[in-house]
Amino acid sequence: MTDRYAVFGHPVAHSRSPYIHAAFARQTGQDMAYEAILAPWDGFAAALAAFVAAGGCGANVTVPFKEEAHQIASRLTGRAERAGAVNTLRMEADGLLGDNTDGAGLVADLTHNLDYPLDGKRILLLGAGGAARGVMAPLLDQHPAALVIANRTVDRAQALADAFGGCVVACAYTEADDSFDLIINATSASLAGELPPISPRCFGSHTLAYDMMYGQFTPFMHLAREHGAVTADGLGMLVEQAAEAFFVWRGIRPDTAPVIAALRA
Ligand code: ATR
Repeated sequence: MTDRYAVFGHPVAHSRSPYIHAAFARQTGQDMAYEAILAPWDGFAAALAAFVAAGGCGANVTVPFKEEAHQIASRLTGRAERAGAVNTLRMEADGLLGDNTDGAGLVADLTHNLDYPLDGKRILLLGAGGAARGVMAPLLDQHPAALVIANRTVDRAQALADAFGGCVVACAYTEADDSFDLIINATSASLAGELPPISPRCFGSHTLAYDMMYGQFTPFMHLAREHGAVTADGLGMLVEQAAEAFFVWRGIRPDTAPVIAALRA
């Protein structure tokens, strides 16, 4: 019988995950189906339970259900625990395993696809919400020289920095005015066509400006380009986090390059 997988979100119609996982399944010869399921705002747990009862083998979870999935999972991987959120669930005999592949997806896109090693780099992370939190530990695992979090609400940045300790520093946008090697936009500003109030002094010709959003040349990328930085969007991260989830479910690593190329085309 074909194994069933799904992505749960609200909204979810825009999700590229069904396309990506269908491509991975074809490429690796896996007998699986993958659909998008729109769960009501207050109905994620029930929708997931129905999917499990119908024999679903695994799921991806997207906005706004990642924190709820973290609570629902019977067991968490270390990276899901540290992220405080779950984007990948695997149905097991004794319950749901909750994992988080977002940070691994970002790191794979940076280090592998963009050939940008992170050790010794000065990183500025914009935002202190779920998206930022989800990538902190995998970034720190790469041994950057510094990880600075800037956020509109400084208390939130401070709380996130405190949770990770070590070389993480929190600041207001006005305090971040030195150039960085890598600047990652993990705010939701781009979704609204807005620009986080970052100083142009943060960019230099050596800077890689990475927006986690994909499919658009965002105001953040415009500003970065204007000030000499190289830019990247989050499409590679999207495909890499999917590949990592595919590996969690099927034990096979698909080749991401042709899927990224097809989505760009
Ligand atoms: P997500 O789970 O996508 O991270 P979130 O938890 O709501 O969503 O967090 C959104 C992040 O984007 C926050 O860091 C938010 O800043 P505040 O904590 O100060 O609210 C940031 N954000 C959203 N719109 C922004 C904007 N126009 N400029 C700067 N930061 C913005």
